[in-house]
Amino acid sequence: MTESPIGVFDSGIGGLSVLQALQSALPAEHFVYWADSGHAPYGEKSDVFVRQRSLAIAQHLIERHHIKALVVACNTATAAAIHELRTQYPQLPLIGVEPALKPAIALSRTQRIGVIGTRGTLGSDKFHRLLSSLDGQAEFIVQPCNGLALAIEESTHISASASSEKITALLRGYTGQMGAFGRGPGQIDTLVLGCTHYVFAQNELQTLLGTDVQLVSTGEPVARQTRRLLEAAAQLRSGPAPIAASARMQLLTNGELSGLQAAAQRWLHLPHAACHKADPHV
Ligand code: DGL
Repeated sequence: MTESPIGVFDSGIGGLSVLQALQSALPAEHFVYWADSGHAPYGEKSDVFVRQRSLAIAQHLIERHHIKALVVACNTATAAAIHELRTQYPQLPLIGVEPALKPAIALSRTQRIGVIGTRGTLGSDKFHRLLSSLDGQAEFIVQPCNGLALAIEESTHISASASSEKITALLRGYTGQMGAFGRGPGQIDTLVLGCTHYVFAQNELQTLLGTDVQLVSTGEPVARQTRRLLEAAAQLRSGPAPIAASARMQLLTNGELSGLQAAAQRWLHLPHAACHKADPHV
């Protein structure tokens, strides 16, 4: 099993932000990434739908790709399905993602923290339990961003400037409803990116909110946790030397292949040959 790949999935290209962190934290590992772009966005679909997709993808990655661990690189799928995945696959090292509220408390000076994510994540019981567990430690200003993951998903099909304009317009509307951002008293000085797609809108966010505002994402902690679980299960691959990223990455999509290729090239510097059409029956 040590030689087997690690499975990673998301509703689309957002989880590539987690894959970036995984590949640098685990340079000897092989990865198979499933972009469920044919069914994106998850954040505006029902929990039942997202759970069914997550279980089908997990089953496929286990049976066909013989993965030794699974990273759910999607906050929405984690909220909807991590419990069922754990129940179904109790032996499999399984890592989910959730909005990084605790790290944000440690970073914030004003203790006013913004949280953006999908409607599915921010409306979930799992997220509400997390918020309640931190009651009194900071003030959280929570804002679902309908349409933002989709705009990022579609950014690979249009020019960089047109997509950036569209993303900025959406962000301006949503962050404008949250209050003042900055380091001054009463201002939001820390913004949690509660959706893996939003990492790819960091430049737009930083331009809009100013560089004083800290953005908090989850890729690195997730990569560290994956490493810990693999070590504990004695499944960590200790390759002779780090292998070129393109030789240890297999990226699959049931959406437009060219979209995944463009994203993988733009953000992970992977050649188009690393990307393939996924089995359409999953
Ligand atoms: N990237 C996902 C997340 O982290 C889902 C975005 C979507 O498909 O709505 O929540």
